[in-house]
Amino acid sequence: MTNIPETQKVILYHEQGDLDNLKYVENYEVPEIIEDNDVLIANKYAGVGFVDSLIRGSEGFPPWYPKKFPIIPGLEASGIVVKVGKGVKNVKPGDKVVYTGFYTFAQFTKTPASIVFKLPDDTSDEKLIIYTSLIVNGITVLGLINESYNVQKGDYVLLYAAGGGCGLIFSKLLSQRGAHVIAVASTDEKLASAKENGAEFLINHKKEDVLKRVLEITDNKGVQVVYDSIGKANVDISFGSLAKNGSWIIFGFASGVPEFNLRALVPKNAKIVGASMFNFDYQRHGSQLQDLVENQGFKIPYEIFPLQDYKKAAAKMESREVVGKLILKIPPS
Ligand SMILES: NC(=O)c1ccc[n+]([C@@H]2O[C@H](COP(=O)([O-])OP(=O)(O)OC[C@H]3O[C@@H](n4cnc5c(N)ncnc54)[C@H](OP(=O)(O)O)[C@@H]3O)[C@@H](O)[C@H]2O)c1
Repeated sequence: MTNIPETQKVILYHEQGDLDNLKYVENYEVPEIIEDNDVLIANKYAGVGFVDSLIRGSEGFPPWYPKKFPIIPGLEASGIVVKVGKGVKNVKPGDKVVYTGFYTFAQFTKTPASIVFKLPDDTSDEKLIIYTSLIVNGITVLGLINESYNVQKGDYVLLYAAGGGCGLIFSKLLSQRGAHVIAVASTDEKLASAKENGAEFLINHKKEDVLKRVLEITDNKGVQVVYDSIGKANVDISFGSLAKNGSWIIFGFASGVPEFNLRALVPKNAKIVGASMFNFDYQRHGSQLQDLVENQGFKIPYEIFPLQDYKKAAAKMESREVVGKLILKIPPS
C-alpha cells in the first residue's frame, strides 16, 4: 500500500504566461479528502495536452477551468487509488485507474470518483501509458465522431493537426468506419504517421494550398464535416471546404477564436457546432475506449519525459514538433 506523505513533487505556476512561469516544486502539500465522493490517486503517468499550454499562455481561463493560483497543470493521468471518500463505490484503495481531471502533473491528485475508470489489476505499466495517452483525446474524438456529427461510411472528413494526439485517433477511428480522411499537418513526418493510422489524403499546409486540394479531392463537392481545433487562422479553409449540409465542428482554438459572418451559412445549409469533452457521454465513450485498447490493441505513438522536465515537454508541444502524445513519468513518493 502506498504511504501518503504530507508533501509531494509537482509542477506549478503562480501566474499565466510563458514557459518560464513553470516551476518544479518538491514540497507542495498533498491534498486531503474532504468530499465524500472524492478519491486520492498516486499518479504514475500524466498526459500532456496542447490545451495545457493554451491555458497557461492565454489571458484569463476557459469557463470550465479552476481559477485559483497556484495552478498545477495537467488534465489526465493514470495511477493507483490510495484513499477514497465515504461515498465512493466504484473504486477502492489499491485499484489501478485512468482518469481525466485537474491538477495531474503531481505525485498525488484528488479528483471526483465519477470521472475515474477502474482498470484490471494486472494492467501493465505499458498499458497504463497507453490509457494515459488516449483518455482525454479518445473520449473527445469518440464524442466528436458519434455525437457532434455521426460520421458515415463514404463521408469526406477534413482534419487539422492530423499528426497530433487527437489527430491520429481521428484517422484510426474514421478510417475504420470507412470515411475518407483528408489529413492536414505542418510536416511530412506528421502526415506519414496520419497515413499509418489510416488517413487517405495528405496535405502539408506549409507547402500546399489546403482549400484548393480539398476541392480537388472532393471533385468540388466539399467535405461532409470539418473537425476544427485551429479556429481563427483557418476560417476560410474550414468554411470553404464544407459541402452543402456540411458540419463545421469547432472543438479548439489553437490560433484564436474565429470571427465569422453567420449569413454565409444560409446558402450552404451549413451547421456550426461547438464541442466539449465535458458534455459527451463520458461512461459510454470511456468503455468503448477500453474495448479498443483491450481487444484491438489500439495505441498511438508517444514519448516519455520525467515530471521535472515538463518545461521541455511543453516547449516541444508549443513548437508543433510532437507526433502523437507526450507523457510525463511521475516519480514514486
Ligand atoms: N473540446 C475539447 O473537449 C477538447 C479536448 C481535447 C483536445 N482539444 C483540442 O484539440 C486540439 C488538439 O489537442 P492535442 O493535445 O491533441 O494537440 P496536438 O494536436 O498534439 O498539438 C496541437 C497542434 O495544433 C497545431 N497548431 C498549434 N498552434 C497552431 C496555430 N497557432 N495555428 C495553427 N495550428 C496550430 C499544430 O499542428 P500542425 O503543426 O500540424 O499544424 C500542433 O501540433 C487542441 O486545440 C485542444 O485544445 C479539445
